[in-house]
Amino acid sequence: MEEIVDYVQNNISTFQDELKEFLKIPSISMLPEYKDDINRCAAYVANILKNAGMSRVEIFKTEGHPLVYGEWLGAPGKPIVLIYGHYDVQPVDPIELWETPPFEPVIKNGKIYARGTTDDKGQIFMHFKSVESFFKVDGSLPLNVKFIIEGEEETGSQNLESFINKNSEILKCDAVIISDTALFDKGVPTLTYGLRGLSYMEVEVSGPKADLHSGTYGGAVGNPINILAGMIAKLHDKNGRINIPHFYDDVLKITSKEKENFRRLKFSERKFAAEAGVRLLEGEKGYTTLQRIWARPSLDCNGICGGFTGKGAKTVITTKASAKISMRLVPNQDPNKISNLFKKYIKRIAPKSVKVEVRNLHGAFPVLTPLDNLATIAAAKAMEKAFNKKIVYMREGGSVPIVTVFSKKLNVPVVLMGLGLNSENLHSPNEHFDLNHFRLGILSSAYFMKEFSL
Ligand code: BES
Ligand code: MN
Ligand code: MN
Repeated sequence: MEEIVDYVQNNISTFQDELKEFLKIPSISMLPEYKDDINRCAAYVANILKNAGMSRVEIFKTEGHPLVYGEWLGAPGKPIVLIYGHYDVQPVDPIELWETPPFEPVIKNGKIYARGTTDDKGQIFMHFKSVESFFKVDGSLPLNVKFIIEGEEETGSQNLESFINKNSEILKCDAVIISDTALFDKGVPTLTYGLRGLSYMEVEVSGPKADLHSGTYGGAVGNPINILAGMIAKLHDKNGRINIPHFYDDVLKITSKEKENFRRLKFSERKFAAEAGVRLLEGEKGYTTLQRIWARPSLDCNGICGGFTGKGAKTVITTKASAKISMRLVPNQDPNKISNLFKKYIKRIAPKSVKVEVRNLHGAFPVLTPLDNLATIAAAKAMEKAFNKKIVYMREGGSVPIVTVFSKKLNVPVVLMGLGLNSENLHSPNEHFDLNHFRLGILSSAYFMKEFSL
């Protein structure tokens, strides 16, 4: 492994330059006008995989964005590891808050800035470079490797899910490894064993047939914005609990052992609040911050629109108002069941004077992965070697929708070996990735392949 480590150290600045090229492609999956860039990005990934040394590389068309598959099965008798990641990125708005343009990567203070650096191009690139290093140094890999890199993670991974359901043979493997989560803290080797799920809804309230003069009608007709705001206010009680009947029915209680594990982590509420830029933290009564973000569900209004929002004061009762509302779920909540409970509750509290429509945009199952399997043990050893520090296990508040599909359909352990940081502005302006973590991630990936092959 010494030679591999040297190779990575000696070539790290080339790797960074190559990552920059990858980051220049605006592969925004959510916006249809970027379809050509998405296709260009898929072709780019396929090329990286070929050049890295994978023997079979294919782009699979889907009803949505293409999937990129790569394999090298030149180590008969050795395990197969499937590496998953996504080449799509989030939109860049609000663009005016970026200090440098989102698709013109720059390096400042040991960090690389661009959309997709930490989520997830920078992180999948670590595995591309670890594979390439093995081929350059040894001419082969210590085990068999498959890559599946998708372009629709940020929109819910629906087409990858149907691909897996139809083609589980091609993805057959002994473990899945994913780098799309965060480290517990800077320089702390971390494996994540839990993800929250998601149920994402849209509520639209329609009132008068057109905007009305608020002097002529105000006080006599239902105002969609007032009504929507009132309904949103009814979604939580005064203790920060979600008010939807039966919402908590399937929530797995946090065991005292896990509470103890959370407590032992060096977590600073003050630092967490400062990083978020808030004066005070708030949430469900009776739970700590780590419990709230990792092991308790939450409900948030992500955006709200309607009415007059321009300069000045226009007096109007608008015709429609709508809100995007998401719920983060924990084991064993089922996103489909939760979406239905949400819909039922909204319909129940909706006043008769307006029409209320509820749509389910997408969902993801929550995840808890076992830790007592060979892949996780190998990954823990690998990160400890790369970082030269003891591994930490944590859960995560975000979601990666495909994880449960992997563990259910392929029936193998899924290892979440993320190298990001929650403070790296994912989904937000000035997204960045720590270049030291980038290097440690390449080494962790390489050590993992070695460990898991033994
Ligand atoms: N990489 C993130 C998941 C994540 C978020 C990991 C926060 C660590 C910290 C992933 O790309 C993501 O953004 N997932 C979405 C889900 C999707 C259905 C839009 C999420 O969590 O909102
Ligand atoms: Mn991601
Ligand atoms: Mn994301």
